[in-house]
Amino acid sequence: MSQEVREGVVVLRGFSKAFGDALVLDDVSLDIRRGEIHALLGGNGSGKSTLIKILSGFHTPEPGALVEVDGVPVSLERHGLADAGFRFVHQNLGLVDALNTIENLGLGVGYPTGVLGRIRWRAARRDAEERLRSLGYEIDARIPVGELSAAQRTAVAVARALHDWRSARVLVLDEPTAAMPVGESTALFDMMDRLRRSGMSVVFVSHHLDEVFAIADRVTVLRDGQRVATIPTADIDKSQLVSLMLGDVEFAELPAKEIRGTGPVRLEVGGLSGAVIQQADLQVRAGEIVGISGLTGSGRDELLQLIFGASRRSGVIRINGQPIDSGDPRASIRNGMALVAADRARQSSIGTLSVKHNLTLTDVSRFSGKFGLLSDRREEQEVLGWIQRLGIRPTSTTAVFATLSGGNQQKVVLAKWLRKNPQVLLLDEPTQGVDIHAKSAIHTLTMEAAQAGCAVIVASSDDAELCQLSDRVLVFRDGKIVVELLDEKITQTEIARHQHTAIATVSL
Ligand SMILES: Nc1ncnc2c1ncn2[C@@H]1O[C@H](COP(=O)(O)OP(=O)(O)OP(=O)(O)O)[C@@H](O)[C@H]1O
Ligand SMILES: [Mg+2]
Repeated sequence: MSQEVREGVVVLRGFSKAFGDALVLDDVSLDIRRGEIHALLGGNGSGKSTLIKILSGFHTPEPGALVEVDGVPVSLERHGLADAGFRFVHQNLGLVDALNTIENLGLGVGYPTGVLGRIRWRAARRDAEERLRSLGYEIDARIPVGELSAAQRTAVAVARALHDWRSARVLVLDEPTAAMPVGESTALFDMMDRLRRSGMSVVFVSHHLDEVFAIADRVTVLRDGQRVATIPTADIDKSQLVSLMLGDVEFAELPAKEIRGTGPVRLEVGGLSGAVIQQADLQVRAGEIVGISGLTGSGRDELLQLIFGASRRSGVIRINGQPIDSGDPRASIRNGMALVAADRARQSSIGTLSVKHNLTLTDVSRFSGKFGLLSDRREEQEVLGWIQRLGIRPTSTTAVFATLSGGNQQKVVLAKWLRKNPQVLLLDEPTQGVDIHAKSAIHTLTMEAAQAGCAVIVASSDDAELCQLSDRVLVFRDGKIVVELLDEKITQTEIARHQHTAIATVSL
């Protein structure tokens, strides 16, 4: 390779990583050009985060990994590639919700100080807001970051990663949009584009292929820890990309939509109010799937937590006619309700336990055999069944939950609730962070749950998903249900129209 070709390129060669006997990265190579946006793609568990964690110095690679920056060899030894200008935003962002932007940006690097070392807060605020502005965001730096939108929080995390802007060269984002409502990612892409134009390179992971085609210059695809392709986005289409990612997997056909919702009313919600939602009424019948749409902050993102009793509410909730105590999720569970929360990993799992224990956390009693002993074999069989149905990897029931890839953790939490055969199933952003194969499996399982007589509510920022699944779609705006869409009215255009504008002729 000539010197010219090597200019402006970071070359990574021979990256491997084994955990015990499992080789999860196998001789992966990658080159990152100056000023490009490079998407790192692959199914759940294909090794994307592991590669990123090696670059950031969190994992040590197997011997033989080489890095060259502008043709000059660089050592990976101390802080990963920080000295070579790599900056990282990991999936959980690592922000402290209760602290504001100024404080989050100051964590670890400190603040501007005046005489006697006093912190100059006003200067710190100006500086924080200026840094965000340069990324394209107007944010009041005094607001706790927990109150910012997902895109704004990501921007704060990026601003923090780029604190020494001038020496930064490659920004690496692991699933920056996974926990982000679909519409909010545009602002993030504008920011990535700004960085690209300033000559920085951006490497990002995403399971949303539309995003990849909208913003990435090139893609690298990993499958089972191996690199299967690096290719300009312009030279490939979506279905080719899916085959590269997953091999030739067969997708289960969604069960045909039947006439549903003729069963008895399973769930009744009357006069429900919370922080945003005002006086919402709705009913869901056995066998029905009701989709909930709305922009972030409209009530869509609050509804299921309120129904479940996980946040403060007023109003009446009935399951099969039986009123449920307000604010007591345990009473909801006892009466056959299940909530798969949007913030799954944080809310509903125990990282140090095995996959099997996380799956059976909710009801060990089901497997009690003689003398109250758990019937281990039955439990093992059932857990294996779920592992297979959702394509959870590794396929071992004893794998420690925390060592699973992000998407596989999501699948375990989902299976945990599905296997309880709930009467009322509440799904909040059910396919966040999972690959396209798992997404189709989750959609099938949701429809099967409805067919088995469950009343299902799916809240999602993914309008396409709602169109695929729902018998009815309710759209929230400003805390109120503004429309109920049925049949041929369930389209992405129609949903978007009602999310944004007050329409005079809406009839409920
Ligand atoms: N600390 C660990 N111990 C054992 N196995 C691990 C550990 N970390 C990751 N793995 C395994 O390595 C494989 C790759 O995981 P990784 O997190 O890199 O996947 P990913 O491509 O980021 O997937 P996702 O899209 O689901 O986030 C998985 O099978 C995972 O279970
Ligand atoms: Mg990952």
